[in-house]
Amino acid sequence: MLRHVTGLPAEPAVMIAKMQHVNVGVIGLGNVGSGTLAVLADNADQIALKLGFRLRVTAVCSRTVAAKKLPESLGAVYRTTDWRQVVAHPDVDIVAELVGGTTVAAEIIDGAIANKKSVVTANKELMATCGSEIWDRAIHAGINLAMEASVAGGIPIHAVLREGISGDRVVALYGILNGTSNYILSEMEKRSAPFDEVLAEAQRLGYAEADPSADIDGLDARSKLAILAALAFGEKITPADIFVELIRRISPMDFQYAHQLGHTIRLICGARQTPDGLILSVRPALIGSQTIIAGVQGAYNAVWVKGRYGEDTFYYGRGAGPLPTGVAVVSDLMRVAREIRHGRPERVSPFAHERLGEYKPLSVTSEKCAYYLRFRVDDRPGIIAALAGILAEQRISLEAVLQLPNETKHDLPFVITVEPTYEHAVREAVQKMSHLEFLREPPLALPMEPPL
Ligand SMILES: NC(=O)c1ccc[n+]([C@@H]2O[C@H](COP(=O)([O-])OP(=O)(O)OC[C@H]3O[C@@H](n4cnc5c(N)ncnc54)[C@H](OP(=O)(O)O)[C@@H]3O)[C@@H](O)[C@H]2O)c1
Repeated sequence: MLRHVTGLPAEPAVMIAKMQHVNVGVIGLGNVGSGTLAVLADNADQIALKLGFRLRVTAVCSRTVAAKKLPESLGAVYRTTDWRQVVAHPDVDIVAELVGGTTVAAEIIDGAIANKKSVVTANKELMATCGSEIWDRAIHAGINLAMEASVAGGIPIHAVLREGISGDRVVALYGILNGTSNYILSEMEKRSAPFDEVLAEAQRLGYAEADPSADIDGLDARSKLAILAALAFGEKITPADIFVELIRRISPMDFQYAHQLGHTIRLICGARQTPDGLILSVRPALIGSQTIIAGVQGAYNAVWVKGRYGEDTFYYGRGAGPLPTGVAVVSDLMRVAREIRHGRPERVSPFAHERLGEYKPLSVTSEKCAYYLRFRVDDRPGIIAALAGILAEQRISLEAVLQLPNETKHDLPFVITVEPTYEHAVREAVQKMSHLEFLREPPLALPMEPPL
């Protein structure tokens, strides 16, 4: 429940009343739009005290705007189903694009720029694919573009990378950026429940969409990593350049084996600098149980950044939801409104770098890492020898073989861990192993991330 902040000290209230409002038009009144309006209405007095002037919602738009209930304290607000009327409205200074997707949202932002209105957006998909081009157009038009809510909802990670640690040189960034996947994996771990069962529950609880593919197939996390990596490393990164692996094959037994190894499993978004360039991936990985990122449970998000000088910093919070994301949108509105009210000659790019460099994709296969290989076999003599032979052919050194007690001989799981090796060698080995007739399914290979 939101608490109402009542009564302002007389003097600031008088001063605030004297300063002109900055006017906001909100397009999209779904989860994020409604959360944004709730925060703007409920926290209006605090926001005004911080800014020295008020943020006033003058226009709202959605396809079903007539059916939307707006917070009463917003007062008279112009309602429309046509976003063009908001971007062209003379009483709108900043447009909040909270529709999502890459079609209408792109038109809205273009329309706002054409009308010289600054834009605040929560749109990871659009910002990941063409955010830097949109920024170029925005700066050319003399307006601002802010996108804090596009990654990790309530965690102010843009502000951190753009300003907080901008003096450092980032060498690696790891994140848990998709709350739905993290909820599924941490519930599987807690209750030994299978993937499909936890996914169905996540859908019932509203953590996962009816069509959960963007979340569980890593596409949502990929867009977010593209934005964060651009911010952190100053390169133009397209989501298509990021290696993605699904979490669908993880089962409760993988957590049992991971625990035996002192690890857990999470969908890790990783961006690390190597002498040859950046390696970018969104994939399930084994991470040490004692690491701070392993403690991220349920629908929470986290970002861990390693800088050359400042070393480790860690950011944690709610990655989605109307109010946490609403706070991110409102904070952007405040930042942009300050600029409109007080003027600022130098706008800081939402990508933290004056110009983004050209990124040459570097394959994850060139990375060296220890691996977890999980097998399900129809038990018989000679299995380990056959698998070890294939590993030896690829010059991969076996580290340990683990087998937990199991009653059935026809579907027997066990795990082999291997010493740090190149991913291309592991892939070749897995490809060769897949033809062995005693395997019930192709081996599952997961990287074991070095301590984060
Ligand atoms: N949900 C989150 O927690 C979260 C977190 C971070 C970022 N985001 C991002 O925030 C954005 C919005 O997400 P959401 O979850 O709030 O989506 P949502 O609940 O589906 O809301 C979308 C809103 O856009 C409106 N809309 C769609 N097409 C329109 C059009 N042609 N003209 C006018 N209005 C239109 C819809 O109108 P009707 O309601 O009338 O149909 C709805 O109000 C997305 O970019 C998303 O990736 C979401």
